[in-house]
This record gives sequence, structure tokens and C-alpha cells, in this order.
Amino acid sequence: MSDGQAVGGTKAWGGRFAAPPDARLEAFNASVAFDVRMVREDIRGSVAHVRMLGRQGIVGADEAAAIEAGLWRVWDEVEAGTFGLTVADEDVHTGVERRLRDLVGSVTGKLHTGRSRNDQVATDLRLWTKGALLALIAGVLDLSEALLDVAAAHPTVAMPGYTHLQRAQPVLLAHHLLAYVAMLGRDADRLRDAYRRADVSPLGSGALAGVTYPIDRDATAADLGFADVSANSLDAVGDRDFVLDALHACALVAIHVSRLSEELILWSSAEFRYVTIDDAFATGSSIMPQKKNPDVAELGRGKAGRVVGHLVAMLTVAKGLPLAYNKDLQEDKEGLFDAVDTTLAVLDVFPPMLRTLRFDAPRMAAAAVADFSLATDAADLLAREGVPFREAHEVVGRLVGRCAAEGRTFADLSDAEWAEIHPVFGHRRPPLDAMESIAARDVPGGTAPGRVLAAHAAASADVATARSWLEEREAALAAVLRRPPANKVGG
Ligand code: ARG
Repeated sequence: MSDGQAVGGTKAWGGRFAAPPDARLEAFNASVAFDVRMVREDIRGSVAHVRMLGRQGIVGADEAAAIEAGLWRVWDEVEAGTFGLTVADEDVHTGVERRLRDLVGSVTGKLHTGRSRNDQVATDLRLWTKGALLALIAGVLDLSEALLDVAAAHPTVAMPGYTHLQRAQPVLLAHHLLAYVAMLGRDADRLRDAYRRADVSPLGSGALAGVTYPIDRDATAADLGFADVSANSLDAVGDRDFVLDALHACALVAIHVSRLSEELILWSSAEFRYVTIDDAFATGSSIMPQKKNPDVAELGRGKAGRVVGHLVAMLTVAKGLPLAYNKDLQEDKEGLFDAVDTTLAVLDVFPPMLRTLRFDAPRMAAAAVADFSLATDAADLLAREGVPFREAHEVVGRLVGRCAAEGRTFADLSDAEWAEIHPVFGHRRPPLDAMESIAARDVPGGTAPGRVLAAHAAASADVATARSWLEEREAALAAVLRRPPANKVGG
């Protein structure tokens, strides 16, 4: 379209405007390039609205039927890939209406009765976000399952547990992996929570104050599969908390994956050599023939920055906005779409990468007892024999200092030396074996094999429960976002 030419058709602003929009305004203002992703939600929202208008007698039943039939024709064009939008359409809402007018003519003008693009866009984006949250939950469950399977395949592998990235106490590899399953369990919970809050229909709030027609908000909400209707029209069109909730949930998923990534990067380095990443999930160097790089994990770490950025960006957009709708809110979509796409991409590649990891169990087990990682067990032994723990800590600390200075380990000490360190050690010896140390941490949430097994079973059950919740919601949403057979349309 040439500079400054009038647009015509269903341009939303109407008769008040004497001058056509400047091409630069048009380009700056338009959201078609990205909000076209909500085209199905937009059409479906209009179908629900016009059905309700017809049933309430706000428009004629024939008119409503004709509009609905036309909307499904636009839907068919979307499916066929022949529906096109241009910058002159401004946004997906106006674009769908413009195409509807091409198809069914002037009756189209009745569709927007008792509705504003403000409640329309909020409805579309909530519907879209619900679908996105379900996809994210599915991805989080897939990742949890991969971690659970890798843990189950390595039930007796010991490794150093770290604090300050210094070897601290031995733990089971499975226990370490289940820590991530715990994080992802909270993530799935947060996503479900975000879903619950997104699951509210703003449709019927109009531009900001409600509408003057006898609309039936419950009917449109039910038709679109929303669990509830919004309580306040100003809030409903001005609120993007549901976007922030989704972004926050994505950010935490990404943060958790970034932590796992960092560990895989460390563990696959020559310095650790705990794990080998499968060739199918590693990359080479264009100059160094020997290199094998953990790019998936590095990107998993790096993408978190991008997702967190979208959260911060949207928090900043929302900050200080007066009620109700402001065009600033159009900035909600690109960040949300990209955060969802990015998080889904991470959740897609991590499970297969994890499933093909190969752990060096002997090396991990050796590291688990190195660097005096069993010192706490020695102090615990004294404490169990009645020595106050602080004193026991002091005794064993001195022993560690002495061994370190002499370049020896606990395993090198003679019976006489043990007895001399403390009389208790004359008749009872602290564990020198990682599994003994691990088995001793037999408390709920601890690393003892039985506890880890129980935690694994509990987490697996949680994943199964979340899956059935998910499948129900997926089926319900798919039923909403489905074109009815042609003979059922507009009836
Ligand atoms: N493209 C707009 C958005 O994303 C749709 C709502 C426009 N509303 C308005 N009052 N201009 O927010």
C-alpha cells in the first residue's frame, strides 16, 4: 500500500477520521505480524460472541448464523494457508473482520455489537495462553520423566554432593537428579496455577465499562471453555497478570534448566569427566578437531537470560499503567510468544539429551569419598557416642588438617593413630565407603537409597496425576478450538 492511502473496508477507527493513516503510523501501530498467531482464538471468540448475540436477540438469528458461517470460512482459509493479513489490517481482529466482510458482506458490521477490541484481545490472548501453558506443562512432565528414568537407571551410583562447588558429602546420583524433578514439580504446579488464573473470560467487558446490550457473559465463557467470568470490566481489559504469571513460570523453568545445564557443562569437562554427552547431542569445533562441545546445555543455560528478559520487560510495561486499556499492552505478545517458544524448544531437546548421557560411575564414586567428604560421618560417629557435636567437629577438623598437611587420607591411618585421635575411634571406625555414608542419611528427603526410592515413586505418581489433569484440559481446549462440521454451523 502506498504512503498515506486510505484503507477502507472495516478499518476500526471509523468515520471520525478525515485523513487516512500515515504509512509510518500504520507500520508502527500494527500488530498483525505477530498477533496473527492468535487467529484461531480470535475467530473462535467471535463465533462465541455472535452465537450469544443471536440467542439473546441482539442481532437476528439469521444474521448471527450467516456471520458464524462466514467466520468458519475464514477459519478454513487459515487452515488452508490462504488467509493473508497486511499491515493495513492493523491487527488480527480487524483483519478477520475485513476478510469476513469480503465473504459475507455488510452483515459483518453486526459482529462487533457489544464488544470492543479491548475485551476481544484479552479473550484471544487468554485462550492462546491457556494452550501455551498446557504445552509447557507437557514439556515439563516430559523432562521430569526423563530425569526419573535416568535416576532409575542409576540407583546405586554415588557421587560427591557439593556446597560452594566444593566436595561436601556423598550423595546418590539419583538423589541429585531428583532435586531437579522437585524443581520441575513446582514448575508444573506454577504453570497449572497460571492456567487457573488465565482461565477467566473478559469477554463482555466492552471497551472498559461493560456494554449496553443484554449480553450473556456466562454463555460466551462456557462456549469458549473458560471456567469463570471476570469480576470487573476495567480490570478485565487492563489486566495482564496472566501474561506475567505465564512469563514467570517460564522464567523459573528456564532458570532450573540453566542450573542443570551448568552442571552438565561442568561434569562433561575434562576436569570432572563424570559424564559423556552423546555425539548426537554434542557439537564440534570448526578449528579444533578434538573438540566436543556441550552446546545444548550451553544454550539451555543461555536461553534463561532471554526468557527472564521477557518477564522483566513485561513487568516494566505493566508498571504505572493507568486503568484501563492502554496501547502499551500490545507489547505483551511478542515477549510472551518468544518466551513460550524458547521454553518449549528447551523442553523439547533436553529429555533426549539426558536419556543418552553416559555416567562414569567409578570415577564419580571415587570422587565421592575424596577430599575428606566423609569427615561429617566421622564427627557424627563421635557425637553418637556422646561427644558433643561441636567438640567432635573440632577433633575431626584437626584430623583433616593433619592428614591434608601430610598428604594422607583417612584410609591411610593405622589403628593406633585412630585410637590416639579419640578413644571412641579405638573401638569404632567411621565409614570409609560412600554407600555407608549415603545409607546413613535415612531421613525423609535424605539420600539413603530407600528414601530416594520412595521419593522416586512419589515423584512418578505426581507426574502421572499431572498428566491426567493435563489430558483432560488438552481435550477440552481442543474441543473449543475445533471447527464444527459444516452442517452444524450457525444452527
Ligand atoms: N492490537 C491491539 C493489542 O494488541 C488490540 C487492541 C486494540 N485496542 C485499542 N483500543 N486500540 O492490544
